[in-house]
Amino acid sequence: MSWSATCRSTLRALVPALVLGTWAIVVQEVVPAAQSARRTVWDGVYTEAQAKKGMAAYQEQCSFCHLADLSGEGFAPALIEDTFKSRWQDGNLADLFIIVKQTMPQDKPASLGDQEYADIVAFLLKSNKYPAGEKPLEPDPLALKGVGFRQ
Ligand code: HEC
Repeated sequence: MSWSATCRSTLRALVPALVLGTWAIVVQEVVPAAQSARRTVWDGVYTEAQAKKGMAAYQEQCSFCHLADLSGEGFAPALIEDTFKSRWQDGNLADLFIIVKQTMPQDKPASLGDQEYADIVAFLLKSNKYPAGEKPLEPDPLALKGVGFRQ
């Protein structure tokens, strides 16, 4: 092989490596930025009106087992204070939404509409003293996944 042919083939091998290298730098810079934009339940992720609707649905669908003041009874755990906070502290709103939707009410799981489950989750947040905000909590697991509990 002539010197210039060797040179060309080295270049051909190098160019993609350089391009990939540039991408690696871009990706490294984008990811931490996305993480710092992460939201939590302290950012006002439901509205007062929604929590009010959720309270009515909760009293109808959930209070029979978890009690009207959410303090729990027998096998049905409390949905407030330490029991609630330690259960969800490492989770996100998608975990809570999906578990409530797929397993509750225990005697007829997944029997309510997605919107009603979202309203009930808003009421659970309100009952645990997380602040209300401007926008309602959407029944969209992909969006809810980005909302953590830990500040
Ligand atoms: C028939 C009784 C009953 C009803 C009605 C009921 N629950 Fe439950 N719930 C339970 C029991 C028992 C458990 C504990 C066992 C389990 O997690 O399945 C529980 C657990 C839970 C948990 C904790 C799950 C976990 O993984 O930590 C949440 C949150 C919850 N219920 C929310 C609700 C909501 C919201 C409603 C109304 C839509 C509701 N429950 C209705 C009996 C009930």
